[in-house]
Amino acid sequence: MTDTLTIRRPDDWHLHFRDGDIMRGVVPYTARQFARAIVMPNLTPPVTTAALAAEYRDRINEAVPQGVKFTPLMTCYLTDTTDPDDLARGFADGVFTAAKLYPANATTNSAHGVSDVAKLYPVLKQMETDGIVLCIHGEVTDHDIDVFDREAEFIERYMRSIVRDFPQLKIIFEHITTADAVKFVEQSSPNIAATITPQHLHINRNAMLVGGIQPHNYCLPVAKRELHRLALRKAATSGSPKFFLGTDSAPHLRGDKENDCGCAGIFGAPYALESYCTVFDEEDALEHFEAFASLNGPAFYGLPANEETITLDRAEVAVPEELDLAGQTIVPWHGGQTIGWRIAG
Ligand code: NCD
Ligand code: ZN
Repeated sequence: MTDTLTIRRPDDWHLHFRDGDIMRGVVPYTARQFARAIVMPNLTPPVTTAALAAEYRDRINEAVPQGVKFTPLMTCYLTDTTDPDDLARGFADGVFTAAKLYPANATTNSAHGVSDVAKLYPVLKQMETDGIVLCIHGEVTDHDIDVFDREAEFIERYMRSIVRDFPQLKIIFEHITTADAVKFVEQSSPNIAATITPQHLHINRNAMLVGGIQPHNYCLPVAKRELHRLALRKAATSGSPKFFLGTDSAPHLRGDKENDCGCAGIFGAPYALESYCTVFDEEDALEHFEAFASLNGPAFYGLPANEETITLDRAEVAVPEELDLAGQTIVPWHGGQTIGWRIAG
């Protein structure tokens, strides 16, 4: 039995840092584990230009604890009016690493998202030409589509045509939650990959709805049936280069989750690596953990893997029920539970 695992330092290919005091409170949790992170742009107002992204990057860098090496990788929030030239310049200048497509109103702070994917075609063409990665929140927003079917429906309505119309465009189907998405990614060209969160590997929708509403297990896309969780676990632990780590850590204060209209998002950052490692251990796939956490993401983005390493030990870790965040309370993923791996040192 493996009790210690040393892997290259991992990266988080999808997370939310927010801004201001909350951002300053959450950045150290990520920087403790990860060398780099793809930072989502859904602030209010959203990060829609290279100038806004450069300023946001500076604020994040100031929040990295002294002596810790961490690089935020910025994304451009695509809207109906995104300027392809600004995006291309921001990418050429090293400000943008990727661009993010939120269908309008799909999730937290996405009101300015894209109302009609067809309007985005000139931008997608530019991204394909320049090699800019497109990160997609893959859910339709039509009111007549059941919330549990929104990801599968997005594949049929949009993914297939985007992939067909831009065969060279690199696309990340983010935080996938269904067997349908796993199958779509597996059957697509090497230009199509997916991130998978820890929560979608650990829980199905019962964890949110059985025994009372459990708001801390609510995020978007929402957790699905057990068969989907099993498909995600198989994909993540398979060793396939198409699947990699993206926590979708999305901090919301306790009061904003436990509310008449509770926010979507799980604060996964504090024990993310330990959470993923537990899944790989349960699946008897620790030999594929480094690929998922540290190699597949950089390879997809055309970036070097990190040189430093990180070591995990088999050990019981009690995750606090809640954490202080900027003088307020937040419940972390696995809050109040014990997990089986810890980061050594
Ligand atoms: C995210 C957030 O809170 O910003 N919420 C979530 O449930 N994942 C937005 C998102 O990634 O959908
Ligand atoms: Zn997200």
